[in-house]
Amino acid sequence: MSIETLTVAELASQDPRWIRVFEQYHIDYCCRGDSPLGQLCQQRGIAIEQLLQTFQSIALQPPGSLLHVQFWDLPLVVDFILQNHHRFARAALDELAQLLPTVLKHHQERLPVLVSLWEIFQRIDREFRAHLEREEQWVFPFVQSGELEKIPPQILDALRSEHDLEAAEFERLRTLTRDFQPPPIECRKTQRTYDLLRHLYFDLHQHAFLENHVLFSKLEQALQQRHPEEA
Ligand SMILES: [Fe+2]
Ligand SMILES: [Fe+2]
Repeated sequence: MSIETLTVAELASQDPRWIRVFEQYHIDYCCRGDSPLGQLCQQRGIAIEQLLQTFQSIALQPPGSLLHVQFWDLPLVVDFILQNHHRFARAALDELAQLLPTVLKHHQERLPVLVSLWEIFQRIDREFRAHLEREEQWVFPFVQSGELEKIPPQILDALRSEHDLEAAEFERLRTLTRDFQPPPIECRKTQRTYDLLRHLYFDLHQHAFLENHVLFSKLEQALQQRHPEEA
């Protein structure tokens, strides 16, 4: 099978180095991961040869990640999401919720962009936390206990739609902050705010990718095998 016909999510699952290429080209591998690479490049006007060249240069560098998630059992995927992504997301949101009001108070006159940034952040803070709680209430415990039949029907589609909305909010932040470039002011709290937002942005992609294309996909396959007549 040629690389152009593989989907972006398949490439990211097979080799995490692709994730670095996709981030560099702002290719959404978590919520639009079902698009074949060739088709996506055509739509976005990206020369596929250029993309492959970027991958080749990254492929020669030491790998940033050696996680082979395609081989993991589902309870491990859930533990990893909980302990790595959910804990980080909550810690980052807590810290940003402390930092941003101070940054806004001291710099909003000089940097009016901070007002919009604060508005978007408040929405993300509210909706993202509620989303994490829904996953922890309706999906994760049943994966860990092996009681997959207790997962409410349609919840996975609903959570996928929430990922789309979260990713769109984070894209707004990226555009607003010009790729999370901190403003040229000497302020440690402002620098830390932009750093954390950037980190959260990349982390959300990996987090949603793991859920959409590893956990939820495998759950759907398992549920379909148990109830083939409902497929
Ligand atoms: Fe999650
Ligand atoms: Fe999620």
